[in-house]
Amino acid sequence: MPIHLPPVTRRNFLKRSLLAGASFALAPRLWAARRRTNPNSWVLFSDTHIAADTAKVVRGINMAAHFRTAAKELLTLPEQPAAFFLTGDCALNSGEPDDYFQLAGLLGQLRGEGFPLHIGLGNHDHREHFWAGLPPEDAAQRAVTDRQVALIKAANVNWFMLDSLETTLQTPGLLGKDQLDWLAKSLDANRRKPAVILVHHNPGTRENIGGLKDTEALLGVIRPRRQVKAWIFGHTHTWRTDPDESGLHLINLPPVAYVFRPNDPAGWVHATTRRDGMQLELRCIDPAHKNHGQMVDLKWRSS
Ligand SMILES: [Fe+2]
Repeated sequence: MPIHLPPVTRRNFLKRSLLAGASFALAPRLWAARRRTNPNSWVLFSDTHIAADTAKVVRGINMAAHFRTAAKELLTLPEQPAAFFLTGDCALNSGEPDDYFQLAGLLGQLRGEGFPLHIGLGNHDHREHFWAGLPPEDAAQRAVTDRQVALIKAANVNWFMLDSLETTLQTPGLLGKDQLDWLAKSLDANRRKPAVILVHHNPGTRENIGGLKDTEALLGVIRPRRQVKAWIFGHTHTWRTDPDESGLHLINLPPVAYVFRPNDPAGWVHATTRRDGMQLELRCIDPAHKNHGQMVDLKWRSS
């Protein structure tokens, strides 16, 4: 389920800081001159795996430190991004309440910058704990049902954020019929603008269904609707982009946290949208990584 966090105001930032014990050192940025916003600039995070113990190390890395490094770097972008997306696996393993308490603290600095945060959940998240880990005002746009989806309209792209968390700690994900019906209907009502799908799980196959169980059903919705140009996902902790047979771009975001293969990059992606495509820039946590700064230029398939 995507959670949408509007920028904090000075007043509610201070209130939150008092309640949550967040650092007041973050507050001065709220008074600082804001960077000019680039409406085509987007920050893409996935698989942050934040733990209740921010000193915890998994697979040789500290997840909170990775998050802070990535967040610090995105705050140095010359122009302010239009929004920040996090495509799930926010929490370490089973989505414990204190994981989200720490996540809220780490997100606090970004919220002070004035751009919205759109957060989806993955198979290592827990909806109720995530909601409970956020102050009530953060959940203002929460739906009653447990499968909320979102359409974020922008100048060059319509972003469709979907919810593939089926069961916490169960590796595959599922969108389900209701969500797919909503997607088809929403795409049909928004045919003219390129559309990009954001969902935690990767395309699954019959042989290896660790990804999205209803992959064929999702592709059945998005392949023929030619305005859909890309499916962005995380889950595999691997960075790669490939077009499928219909010219749809399949974009696997790297994890902000740990990788599964030693030479893979951990990091985030800065996306810049155009009407005819999107440029992706990989920002590695380790600036010495051979892929740091890699640019990928994607051209949209014809409509
Ligand atoms: Fe993950």
